[in-house]
Amino acid sequence: MPPILQNAHSELFSDIRCSDEFTFYVNGKKVVDKHVDPELTLLMYLRDVLYLKGTKLSCGEGACGACSVMISEFDPVSKKISHHCVTACLVPICSVHGKAVTTVEGVGSVADKLHPIQEELIRSYGLQCGFCTPVW
Ligand code: FES
Repeated sequence: MPPILQNAHSELFSDIRCSDEFTFYVNGKKVVDKHVDPELTLLMYLRDVLYLKGTKLSCGEGACGACSVMISEFDPVSKKISHHCVTACLVPICSVHGKAVTTVEGVGSVADKLHPIQEELIRSYGLQCGFCTPVW
């Protein structure tokens, strides 16, 4: 896990669980929205509010995986952080309150440094198939 995500997780799970504002982390950066539209999906929020266009809209009904992102959340019982892949087109934005979202932009970028898997996809002429490329 990139260090920026670990820092985000530490701060995230200690200060926003009981907030009355909609708050979550995206790629290690805190997002606070006092007027979030509860009808938005996570995908719409990422693309249209935060302008993170790396997460794609394809089928819009949870079938293709083009909108896959990782959600990280703290389990207060086990005291552990779990990570799971979700299709952002089906996730109501308000359900990610207090959680951390990692998009393809948080994994690596041309501007910063590509993840080794991203480099290999480029080297091997990998195409954006839906599930694998948007996530990595
Ligand atoms: S856009 Fe196809 S699963 Fe979300």
